[in-house]
Amino acid sequence: MPDPTGYARGVTAPRLEIDALLADPATKIVVCCGSGGVGKTTTAAALGLRAAEVHGRRTVVLTIDPARRLAQSMGLTELDNTPRQVKGIDTEATGGELHAMMLDMKRTFDEVVQAHTTPERAAEIFANPFYQAMSSTFAGTQEYMAMEKLGQLRSRDEWDLIVVDTPPSRSALDFLDAPARLSRFLDGRMLRMLLAPARSGGRSMFSLVTASFGLFSRSVQKILGAQLLTDLSGFVAALDSMFGGFRQRADETYRILQDPQTSFLIVAAPERDAVREAAYFAERLVAERMPLAGLVLNRVHRSEVESLTAERTEVAAAALEAAGDHSVTADALRVHAGLIRLIEREVRVAGTFAESFPAVPTVSVTAQPADVHDVDGLRMIGAALS
Ligand SMILES: Nc1ncnc2c1ncn2[C@@H]1O[C@H](COP(=O)(O)OP(=O)(O)OP(=O)(O)O)[C@@H](O)[C@H]1O
Ligand SMILES: [Mg+2]
Repeated sequence: MPDPTGYARGVTAPRLEIDALLADPATKIVVCCGSGGVGKTTTAAALGLRAAEVHGRRTVVLTIDPARRLAQSMGLTELDNTPRQVKGIDTEATGGELHAMMLDMKRTFDEVVQAHTTPERAAEIFANPFYQAMSSTFAGTQEYMAMEKLGQLRSRDEWDLIVVDTPPSRSALDFLDAPARLSRFLDGRMLRMLLAPARSGGRSMFSLVTASFGLFSRSVQKILGAQLLTDLSGFVAALDSMFGGFRQRADETYRILQDPQTSFLIVAAPERDAVREAAYFAERLVAERMPLAGLVLNRVHRSEVESLTAERTEVAAAALEAAGDHSVTADALRVHAGLIRLIEREVRVAGTFAESFPAVPTVSVTAQPADVHDVDGLRMIGAALS
């Protein structure tokens, strides 16, 4: 079946060759990004499975908040930040392996602290309530941690392929901005600003902290006041020795993402907002010189008889009804007409992306009748992608 992207406007995107991408030993990292709920996690897991089963690669999938049933079917029951081998898949013929892990943001943050300071200092930081709050609530932390974990997996060099899922960001761009944002925050200037009034006794830092994090309401401030100041000073002092480390790691992450061995796949649903978001993301990747491999249009609709137009079907249904025939046939014709109109709309929406980025290879995946929550379902998605 021809890829539907853009055919209504005569814009035909090249086909994204997923199997060629997954089989290529030079492909080391695949990042699945896109706006919320479009199928990033599903696509990442399906790609990982296919890389292992069909292409025999030793693959690890880093998933973020997978749906519970999907996590269970992949054997992901513990949030321990360690890749676990996925059992019950069919890799006998190819010798591949699939490992999977769910990201635990707090634990990843802790690991970074441990890697950058002495055990005593680390213990002080962990005990600090401000650290505890920040490591799980600061906006962008999850995005940053996903990239941090990617850096760790990459540096160990034990994987043929790392497939990375990205967090359900408010905007797809958050994920690219997070490393820089967090390292800016941890950069001396802002922290010095926070710290300076504390040294001179206090109040202004308090309001700054509150404004920055929104962690405490006014009434709570009164109660927590002095303790929070102590906590924050302790936190900042303890982090002091680590600024360089964080900044450097954010830079390294950018280099990994720009590496030609990395491939970005933008996942989008054939809906206006998701496609618009996908276009922003594509622009951004191009601007940052990050390797955009293609667009995955997920949950598209198809019909076996697309040549039977909505108009002709509706005319036929109307004719039957006019003749007093309200049979199943007339209903079926109406349903078919509705489906064809939906497909036309999806094709039109997808065409807006293809028009702006005619060279970006695209593949579409049909909407399955039910959610994808087990290995069989992932295998089907993988086959549809290829
Ligand atoms: N092609 C498909 N057909 C049917 N259901 C699908 C398809 N792709 C994904 N789904 C279902 O859609 C839901 C959302 O998918 P998924 O969790 O992969 O999206 P996501 O982009 O990771 O979301 P979030 O932004 O919240 O992380 C899941 O229930 C999944 O099973
Ligand atoms: Mg997800």
